[in-house]
Amino acid sequence: MDKTLTLGIETSCDETAAAVLRGGRDLLSNVISTQIPLHQKFGGVVPEIASRKHIVNIMPVIDEALTKAGVTLRDINQIAVTFGPGLAGALLVGLSAAKSLAYALKIPLIAVNHLEGHIFANFLSAPQLEPPFLSLVVSGGHTALINMTDYNRFELLGQSRDDAAGEAFDKIARVMGLPYPGGPEIDKLAKSGDPDAITFPHPKVTGYDFSFSGLKSAVLNYLNTAQMKGDSIDAADVAASFQKTVVDTLAEKTLAAAEEFNLNKIVLAGGVAANSSLEKTLRTACERRGLEFYYPSKILCTDNAAMIACRGYYQNTFADSTLNAVPNLGL
Ligand code: KG4
Ligand code: ZN
Repeated sequence: MDKTLTLGIETSCDETAAAVLRGGRDLLSNVISTQIPLHQKFGGVVPEIASRKHIVNIMPVIDEALTKAGVTLRDINQIAVTFGPGLAGALLVGLSAAKSLAYALKIPLIAVNHLEGHIFANFLSAPQLEPPFLSLVVSGGHTALINMTDYNRFELLGQSRDDAAGEAFDKIARVMGLPYPGGPEIDKLAKSGDPDAITFPHPKVTGYDFSFSGLKSAVLNYLNTAQMKGDSIDAADVAASFQKTVVDTLAEKTLAAAEEFNLNKIVLAGGVAANSSLEKTLRTACERRGLEFYYPSKILCTDNAAMIACRGYYQNTFADSTLNAVPNLGL
């Protein structure tokens, strides 16, 4: 078995993370220092605060990842780091650490696309998984359907034309007075609600593109109208009905793409993959159709450096010290 040790570093948003991976699938450590409590009082991530906190956290987090893996910096063979998409200042902290360490240790540096990283989280949760497969990537910033034909070949079938799925969850939660990040809060609240209580319009976009801004406006209008009339609302019903509309839309497009492209494996990725209803709906639909279904364990769904190390391991291109952050990097 390949014993290459990859140090993964991730600082694209509000988690400072480092991980050590042996070979392609053997995760030795996965340390995540979350800044969520720090940003909660602002209702969302404040970029300047995130960058400053990453600076404080980055070296202790790397140290902890090495200690937990039972290795030292001298044992590391290569460093994989997120260079985009994400917040510019936040990305630069991880990049500076990775570039300095790679230079000092004279080891290769690998520039990882965060979105590709999310897909690779699945290889850690399911070591037997191999491409080709269809991946639905749903995060705070992106919603995309990808035909991954090989470890290094990604065909973008469609993506969101406006809000990402996670963004819609977060915005609606915020208006409902739920804490940041809103996705897990809506997920929790929806469990005690009726998903058929309110009919919200299904986004009408042809092909494999998505759009969630119309749905978001419909939910916000519903909440505003109720408030103006002084009507009481059932927050759990709103959460469940909104969530069902998002989940049904995501599942419909994913299953249609799997059929059209004749793919028998569906791989869920990104922070919204932690949504219990999305996971259950896709699992049931896949079972019915005889498709294999994969999704990462909860800790690997949201931002982490294990997925970055894994993506880096399979990537066959290297970066140098001129590597810069690309905040709006696409797939
Ligand atoms: O992938 P991620 O950690 O960060 C980005 O790369 O954007 O995704 C974060 C997003 C947030 O919008 C958060 O609300 C959402 O994932 N999320 C969820 C759940 N857990 C996290 N959305 C719905 N249900 C969840 N259980
Ligand atoms: Zn992410």
